[in-house]
Amino acid sequence: MLSTIFASALLALTASPIPVRSQADIHNVTGLAGTWSSGSGAVQTGAGFANPVNFSFTYPKNTGISWSFTDTGFFEQAEYQFRSNGSEPSCITGVVLFQHGTYQFLDNGSIIATPFAPDGRIQVQDPCAAQSNTITQFNTSVLFSSWRIFQDPTRGPKLQLYRFDGAPLTPQFLVALPPNMLPTQVLTPNNQSAAVAKLRKLTFIVLGTVAGGAIGALMLVL
Ligand SMILES: *[C@@H]1O[C@H](CO)[C@@H](O)[C@H](O)[C@H]1NC(C)=O
Ligand SMILES: *[C@@H]1O[C@H](CO)[C@@H](O)[C@H](O)[C@H]1NC(C)=O
Ligand SMILES: *[C@@H]1O[C@H](CO)[C@@H](O)[C@H](O)[C@H]1NC(C)=O
Ligand SMILES: *[C@@H]1O[C@H](CO)[C@@H](O)[C@H](O)[C@H]1NC(C)=O
Ligand SMILES: *[C@@H]1O[C@H](CO)[C@@H](O)[C@H](O)[C@H]1NC(C)=O
Ligand SMILES: *[C@@H]1O[C@H](CO)[C@@H](O)[C@H](O)[C@H]1NC(C)=O
Repeated sequence: MLSTIFASALLALTASPIPVRSQADIHNVTGLAGTWSSGSGAVQTGAGFANPVNFSFTYPKNTGISWSFTDTGFFEQAEYQFRSNGSEPSCITGVVLFQHGTYQFLDNGSIIATPFAPDGRIQVQDPCAAQSNTITQFNTSVLFSSWRIFQDPTRGPKLQLYRFDGAPLTPQFLVALPPNMLPTQVLTPNNQSAAVAKLRKLTFIVLGTVAGGAIGALMLVL
């Protein structure tokens, strides 16, 4: 009898080497509010990353992800990632994306981020595609199944977001509080498809000019 108690005590000890913390402790090392950024902090939300109004991105020095949250229910997402293609290993695609909008804590511990639909932007740089480097509208709700904030011994509060399927995202560290964000409202003026059409026309004119210049230069050389 006594040996059974010892055995189970031992089992309990070996089974939980990490001190047990309550949900509240784990979540609340700090609040969620702030700007969080992965790795060296190269990618950060705010004015230095995306400008949805003129369809532009400022490319960070390194890849990474960044999320900002306010205490009042607004979020901003910034990502710069490389994706490799198994069937075309030389075609490494660069993807920059921006979204902002509102978020909610769900009762089951998940978070849902709902973008302002007209403002999301994505740019895919595909060296192997016929038409590369286009910036288009992007609107995708993001569900985090759960989230935790840990205390990193050297870098302080560390946010761990878990994807809809439970997979952890790259950890992010607190880089700004209050958060650095674009204004938390729809920024795209007027009509989106009209704006896209205008941009396409502009790109066409620029490309046409470049092509014309190249032909001119070629003729000069010949
Ligand atoms: C911990 O954080 C959650 C989510 O922000 C909040 O609902 C809860 O009240 C907090 N708990 C404590 C003890 O501060
Ligand atoms: C977009 O606007 C920002 C801020 O006014 C400016 O710095 C940037 O050069 C613009 N980009 C393009 C492609 O027009
Ligand atoms: C990989 O490359 C092939 C051939 O170019 C293309 O059809 C496919 O869509 C690419 N896959 C991804 C995930 O980019
Ligand atoms: C934006 O995406 C959400 C879901 O992700 C969808 O319900 C909504 O209709 C979309 N809005 C537009 C304008 O495409
Ligand atoms: C929490 O609820 C939402 C909405 O019903 C659901 O999509 C999500 O998967 C749930 N999260 C977990 C961890 O079950
Ligand atoms: C936006 O502009 C396009 C092209 O001018 C037009 O076809 C479309 O109906 C407009 N949409 C709205 C919601 O005004």
